[in-house]
Amino acid sequence: MDWGKENRMSKVIKPDGKCFYLAMDHGYFQGPTTRLENVGQAATPLLEFVDALFVTRGVLRSQISPKVNTSIILRVSGGTSMVGGDLANEAVTTSIDEILRLNASAVGVSVFVGSDYEHQTILNLANLVNICEPYGIPVMAVTAVGLELEKRDARYLALACRICAEIGASVVKTYYCENFQKVVNSCPVPVVIAGGPKTENDFEVLEFVYQGMQDGAIGVNLGRNIWQNSQPQAMARALQGVIHESLTPNEAFELYQSYEQEKSH
Ligand code: R5P
Repeated sequence: MDWGKENRMSKVIKPDGKCFYLAMDHGYFQGPTTRLENVGQAATPLLEFVDALFVTRGVLRSQISPKVNTSIILRVSGGTSMVGGDLANEAVTTSIDEILRLNASAVGVSVFVGSDYEHQTILNLANLVNICEPYGIPVMAVTAVGLELEKRDARYLALACRICAEIGASVVKTYYCENFQKVVNSCPVPVVIAGGPKTENDFEVLEFVYQGMQDGAIGVNLGRNIWQNSQPQAMARALQGVIHESLTPNEAFELYQSYEQEKSH
């Protein structure tokens, strides 16, 4: 690996081999998502806990300070909306000039395996890898299911992750599921876990992230379960504990519960 790519990889996978990405790209197809109406305001108190922020170029330019210390993973696919025809009908939205100008440490693109746009979105990934690789920019493939959340089982996710790795992704983002080891073990590149809709209770998040990492994921790319939490900073701190300090779900939950109290003293 050339110096540039190795350097960028070290920004998105820390020396312990783990990573914590804060996903705030939802507006690219959902518009002003609850609690993410102002991304800058939502992100600022959380950045100290995470390794990288996953956003679009529009939000990065308008709401995130260029002096920020956190690495940036740029969401570079889109072209659809919640009120449009099919969420899978995506294209690559951001040129390599922009990726370089914005000093992204990596880029992210969605792939919709099994959809009507499977071919198109796999080629989006392939073309993006072709464009980014000469500049040493790592590509994170997002195994996306659109509104078909029931697709999130090990058989489907293992298929989708393996295809993304074969096409050239440096990292693959997917959902945690039952028998998650099957997904990780058949994927030759590192796997990170996405969150999905906010869970019923807070402990559940810490549990599935912990379990996913026990099963071989290297970290998370999590959004709603952090910034839609009633105590986003406490949840980010607790997740940091699970990811980088090997806390168990119980230990992390204690940290979550005590965080706000300690902060006010
Ligand atoms: C969806 O594709 C978005 O790109 C998010 O980055 C991803 O789903 C992670 O966010 P959440 O944890 O809210 O699902």
